Amino acid sequence: MIPYQGCKVYQGRWAVSTAFGILKMIPSAENFYDLFGGGGSIVEAACRFQENGLFEQGQKWKHIHYNELNTGVYLLNKAIWEGTFDFDKARRTWISRERFFAEKDEPTAWGAFVRFCWSFGGGGDMYIYGKEIENTRNLQHLLTLMDWVPGETQNEKRLFLRKEIGKVLKNHKQLQSLQRLERLQSLERLERLESLEGLQRLESLERLERVNKTNKDYRDVPIEPNSVVYCDIPYEGSGKCYGVNFDFAGFYEWSKTREFPVYHSGYMCSDPFFKLTWEKVTQCRMSKKDGKGIYKTEKLFWNGRKL
Ligand SMILES: C[S@@+](CC[C@H](N)C(=O)[O-])C[C@H]1O[C@@H](n2cnc3c(N)ncnc32)[C@H](O)[C@@H]1O
Repeated sequence: MIPYQGCKVYQGRWAVSTAFGILKMIPSAENFYDLFGGGGSIVEAACRFQENGLFEQGQKWKHIHYNELNTGVYLLNKAIWEGTFDFDKARRTWISRERFFAEKDEPTAWGAFVRFCWSFGGGGDMYIYGKEIENTRNLQHLLTLMDWVPGETQNEKRLFLRKEIGKVLKNHKQLQSLQRLERLQSLERLERLESLEGLQRLESLERLERVNKTNKDYRDVPIEPNSVVYCDIPYEGSGKCYGVNFDFAGFYEWSKTREFPVYHSGYMCSDPFFKLTWEKVTQCRMSKKDGKGIYKTEKLFWNGRKL
């Protein structure tokens, strides 16, 4: 899956159980649609949970459909799921600050990769490294490509190099500040790349290849009979709208007027028409001040339609 803001699984086991809680509530049907698919975590979780027999109904949905409006994000998921994304190129290429700003908004799989793996915190706007450590990181990147550095993965190689560099730094304070700078980058670029790449090793890849995929506005996706729809819309009131001006009232009107069950996620829903069907307190990130978790209640709303 793409390390995506608002993603239901990337932040660890806690969030995996959030995806499970949501998917457990959505009824079994012939077709399952994830109309705001983003980084693809819900579709991947649905495939994995079905494959591992985690739902009471076994095979809950015969066909799984992923839709996403952002073309780059859609293409990146498609390429990963169909096994055509060039991970070797992604691993070997150093994206400089200049290159980041020039390529991150290209509506291609590569543009989306640059945006999510080379931005600070995965937010897509700021370059991942501060100016002070950019050159050190570039050097480290070049070294991790060398065969003599021990380690199975690039991340293991990076950790080895950090230890070795630490040994030659005479001034202990220098080492401490290097480590502090590293910690400031909440998610390591290589960890993100490996999270994308980890998917290739999953058996469910074959299943993901068969997922129907569309790159449309949610209203334009044709819904087959005997379907359930899940919408992980941008979060109302959170200010996070993924570069689009999301019309919440328009979405609520659309959902209310559908003949089929529509479920949507949010921390809140300003329209009392929708029924709250599930909620769970989740840790969404660490506080910068005290390092403790910031908690929010993830909720699932329903338009009241049955199959
Ligand atoms: C909260 S995110 C989804 C996160 C996703 N569940 C995941 O785990 O990565 C919302 C997504 O909806 C997409 N989106 C925004 N407006 C849309 C629209 N009108 N139709 C379809 N997708 C839309 C955004 O690009 C964004 O990727």
